[in-house]
Amino acid sequence: MTDKQRKILVTSALPYANGPIHLGHLVEYIQTDIWTRFQNQRGNHCTYVCADDAHGTPIMLKADQMGVTPEALISQVSQEHQRDFAGFMVGFDNYYSTHSEENKHFASLIYTRLRDGGHIAKKTITQAYDPEKEMFLPDRFVKGDCPKCGAQDQYGDSCEVCGATYSPVELKNAYSAVSGAKPIEKESEHYFFKLADFENTLRNWVDSCVQEQMIHKLNEWFESGLQNWDISRDAPYWGFEIPDAPGKYFYVWLDAPIGYMASFKNWCEKNSVDFDEYWNEASDTELYHFIGKDIAYFHTLFWPAMLEGAGFRKPTKVFCHGFLTVNGQKMSKSRGTFIMAETYLKHLRPEYLRYYFAAKLGSGIDDIDLSLDDFRMRVNADLVNKVVNIASRCAGFIHKKFAGQLADTLAEPALYDEAVASGELIANAYEAREYGKAMREIMHLADKANQYIDTAEPWVLAKQEGKEQQVQDCCTMGINLFRVIVSYLAPVLPQVAADTAAFLNIDGFAWGAIKTPLLNHQINKFKPLMQRIEEDSINAMIEDSKATLAAIAAATPAAPTAEKTELEKNPVADEITFDDFAKVDLRVARIAKAEHVKGADKLLQLTLDLGGETRNVFAGIKSAYNPEDLEGKLTVMVANLAPRKMKFGMSEGMVLAAGPGGKDLWILEPHEGAQPGMRIM
Ligand code: MSP
Ligand code: ZN
Repeated sequence: MTDKQRKILVTSALPYANGPIHLGHLVEYIQTDIWTRFQNQRGNHCTYVCADDAHGTPIMLKADQMGVTPEALISQVSQEHQRDFAGFMVGFDNYYSTHSEENKHFASLIYTRLRDGGHIAKKTITQAYDPEKEMFLPDRFVKGDCPKCGAQDQYGDSCEVCGATYSPVELKNAYSAVSGAKPIEKESEHYFFKLADFENTLRNWVDSCVQEQMIHKLNEWFESGLQNWDISRDAPYWGFEIPDAPGKYFYVWLDAPIGYMASFKNWCEKNSVDFDEYWNEASDTELYHFIGKDIAYFHTLFWPAMLEGAGFRKPTKVFCHGFLTVNGQKMSKSRGTFIMAETYLKHLRPEYLRYYFAAKLGSGIDDIDLSLDDFRMRVNADLVNKVVNIASRCAGFIHKKFAGQLADTLAEPALYDEAVASGELIANAYEAREYGKAMREIMHLADKANQYIDTAEPWVLAKQEGKEQQVQDCCTMGINLFRVIVSYLAPVLPQVAADTAAFLNIDGFAWGAIKTPLLNHQINKFKPLMQRIEEDSINAMIEDSKATLAAIAAATPAAPTAEKTELEKNPVADEITFDDFAKVDLRVARIAKAEHVKGADKLLQLTLDLGGETRNVFAGIKSAYNPEDLEGKLTVMVANLAPRKMKFGMSEGMVLAAGPGGKDLWILEPHEGAQPGMRIM
C-alpha cells in the first residue's frame, strides 16, 4: 500500500431522467461503487459523484405526453433513481442534476472559452422539421421505410433490419414520431465544436487513458477523421440557452458530462472542499469516469477536447464496460428479463447481484451475462455455503461455551499470515477492476478456512472433556479467518460487512487493520448473515417484470404511426418480365446450423445445406429467432446472389423473410416434402 493518500474523484455516467434504472445500468453503478468503497477502505480519499441527465428532446416530449412540466418529470425521476441506487447500496457522495445553476455556469463558461479560443464554427444546415408540432426532429424521431431494404417503421438514422445507416431525409414514407405529420426540410444555423483542433492532444491522451480494446476503436475514429460536432439545437428545446445565441440551446450531450463538474462543485460547496484543486489544468488529483462502451465517443473524444480547450484538466482514465445480457440474450420485455431495479428489490437482496456482477467483471469491455440459474447457484455456493458458513460453524461455541470471548492466541498463525498475504493480490485485482479475479482469490481463502474447520472438528472436541481450550482456539482461528475474508469482500457486500462488524463488535474493516488478528476480544451473538436464493424468488421476479412492463405499456399513449395497409406501406414494385424473374435462382435449403455471431446485434450465422453443398449466410433475424429453433428447418434462399463481404465474413446468399422487423419477422418455410437443393419456380 502506498503511504500517500490519493485524492480521487470518480463518476458513473449520468442516467437519463426519462426512464427507470434497470439491471443493465447497475453493471456500471455497482462496478463504480465497489471501486470507490475499495479506495476508501485502503485509506485513500475517493469521492463518487453522479447526477441525472435531465435535458434533451426525449425528456421534453415525455413530459409533454404526461401533461407535466419537464421540471416536474425530472424531479420525480430523480427521486426514483436515488431510491433505486440506495436500494442497491450505491453510495454516491453527491447525486445531482444537470438542470442546475452550477451546470449552467460551467456549460456557459466552457462554451465561452471554446468560442474565444476559436473552436466554435457556425453553419447553416437542413434538417427534418415537424410542421404540426413546429419543431426540428432529432433523427430518432423521424420514422419511415428503410431506403435500402424497405423495412417499415425504421428510425431516421439506421435500419434495425438490414443495418443500413442513412440520414432521415432518405427515409421513404417518412413521418414524425411526435405528431405523425410528414416532416418537411428546413434550414437553421447551428454551432459546431471543432473537434479536429484537438487531434494531437487526443492522440497523446488516449494512449494512457483508455483500455487496450478502446485504443483500437479510437484509432478507427481517428482514421475516419474527426468531424465538427453540432452542439446547438433550436427552440423548443429543453436545456440551457446558449449565452450569445437567443433561441438556440446547448445539445444535451454538451452539458451532460459538464454535469460531473457541476455535481462535484455542489458537493465541494457543502463540504468546504477546493474545487479547483481537482479541476485545474495542473491538478495532481485523479479523475476517473466509468461508462458503458456505447458512450465512449463522447467521453474519449468530445469531453477531453472540451476540457483541454477550456483550460481544465483531462480525465486520468476513462473505464469502459460492456453490456448486460440476461440468460445470454439482450434484456427482453416479453421474456421478463428487462428487469427494473425496483422490481428486483421486491424479490431479492441487492448484495446477491453485487456479488454476482463482481464475480463476472473484468477490466475489459466484453458484455457480461446474468444467467439466472448460474446466479442463484453461484451466490448460494459462494456466499452462503462458503463464506457465511465459516462464521456460523464457529460462533455458537464461542458464544455458548466462552461467553463470547475469543482466545488470546491464534491456533494456526501461518494460515492467518497466508490469508493476510493474499491481500496484496486481491487489492491489486480491485485496483485494476479485475473483480472476478479478486472474488476467485477470496473464495479460495474461504475454501481453506472451511478445510481448516473440517480438520479441527470443534463439534467433536466440544464433546470431549478437557478440550475446552482447543475448542476456543480453533473457533477463534475460524472467526479470524472469517474477519479477513469479510474485510476483502466489504467493497462488494456493504450490508454483510456492517452486520459482521456488529457481530464481531468492531468499528469496520480498514485494510490496514487486517494484519492484526482479533484476540482476547468480546464478540456478540451471531445472527444469520445471508439466506439462500430460492428459485421461487427468481421466478416471481420474472413474472413481476412482465406484469410491471405490461402495465407501463398500457398506461403510455402509443406513439403516432400512420395507419396504412401493408400494400399502402409498401406498394407493389414495377412490372418485370419472366426472364427478369428467372434470373433469380431460388432454392430450398435446410438450415444445418444456426449460431450467434460474436459482436453482432442483429445477425445470425446460418449454414444452409443445398443437398450436396453448403452456404454460409448472415441473416438479420436475430431479433426474431433463437438459433436453436431454426436448426433442421427448411427455408428458401436466393442461391445465385453475388457473395457479399461483411464485417464478420462472407455471406453467400440470402434467406427470404417478411415483416417489418424486430420481433415481427418471419422467414419462409416450404411445405413438407420439399428437398434441399430443389429449385423454386
Ligand atoms: N445520459 C447518458 C450518459 C451521459 S454521461 C455524461 C446515458 N444514459 S443511460 O441512462 O442511457 O445510460 C447510463 C449508463 O448506463 C451508460 O454508461 C450506459 O452505457 C449504461 N448502461 C445502460 N444500459 C446498459 C446495459 N444494458 N448494460 C450495461 N450498461 C448499460 O447514456
Ligand atoms: Zn433496411
